[in-house]
Amino acid sequence: MEAFKGRTALVTGAASGMGLGIARGLAAGGARVVLWDLDEAGLQAAVDKINSEGGEAHGFSCDVSNRATVASVAARVKAELGEVDLLVNNAGVVSGGYLLDIPDEKIEQTFAVNTLALYWVTRAFLPGMIERNAGQVVTLASASGYMGVARLSDYSASKWAAIGFDESLRVELRSLAPGVGTTVICPFFVNTGMFEGVKSRLMPILKEEKVVRSILRAIRLRRRRLVLPWSVRLLPAMRLLPVPLLDAMANAMGVNRAMDEFKGRAG
Ligand SMILES: NC(=O)c1ccc[n+]([C@@H]2O[C@H](COP(=O)([O-])OP(=O)(O)OC[C@H]3O[C@@H](n4cnc5c(N)ncnc54)[C@H](OP(=O)(O)O)[C@@H]3O)[C@@H](O)[C@H]2O)c1
Repeated sequence: MEAFKGRTALVTGAASGMGLGIARGLAAGGARVVLWDLDEAGLQAAVDKINSEGGEAHGFSCDVSNRATVASVAARVKAELGEVDLLVNNAGVVSGGYLLDIPDEKIEQTFAVNTLALYWVTRAFLPGMIERNAGQVVTLASASGYMGVARLSDYSASKWAAIGFDESLRVELRSLAPGVGTTVICPFFVNTGMFEGVKSRLMPILKEEKVVRSILRAIRLRRRRLVLPWSVRLLPAMRLLPVPLLDAMANAMGVNRAMDEFKGRAG
């Protein structure tokens, strides 16, 4: 099925994890894919993999947290490949630690990659989409954007911001360019390695391939929001409870112990 035929899709953080899976799926669906990542060797391997699978992939080394770099790499993409129809803001990082234990630079990097980069990358490609009144901006947020979690004070806040970014953009576009849509993705923990060591008592850690399939389906159907698993949608409703009860329920479900043995990629 060539669901994405004729589209040019750009995926950030596409050298590994869900970004690579999303890029492969979009290419398999007929899109020409543009991969951005920091990791040059990983990026080349990802491009080679997609091309060997019969897709068309182009790799650009880009640090999405650097505003000037994003502007110049975006200009190169447009000059070499034309406008982008589908943007997947996927690049993300996590520090994992109590507020006072996270180095200052890690906190800054978390917001620079998980939040501010959404602005720089989207602002680079949105004008073309608005002009054509066609396109889609996909943002990888997180279930932790619905609930604060111990040892995730920077990550969780950066993902709350990502959800707010998507929602504001979605309603702005309704009048500016109704043909341009947004999709926000809010998964629980996924076994990509980013959250290596987390323990979940609440629900099983999600499998990367399954999540990527769901994301591709949501993009294809232009769904506005994908929350995985479905039960995470109940979190905003839980906020109606008195705070002590909300915290007690989260603790009873093990939410605030989940990061106790976190290692992440560095571990
Ligand atoms: N895994 C989960 O449990 C989970 C749950 C909910 C939401 N998410 C979100 O889903 C997205 C993908 O997560 P994932 O688990 O697939 O992560 P991942 O496997 O760690 O992949 C993230 C990718 O982003 C790249 N990246 C990091 N900083 C970058 C920068 N400044 N510029 C360009 N690329 C950069 C990384 O490159 P390097 O390898 O070179 O650093 C890596 O290739 C993230 O936004 C994450 O926050 C993940």
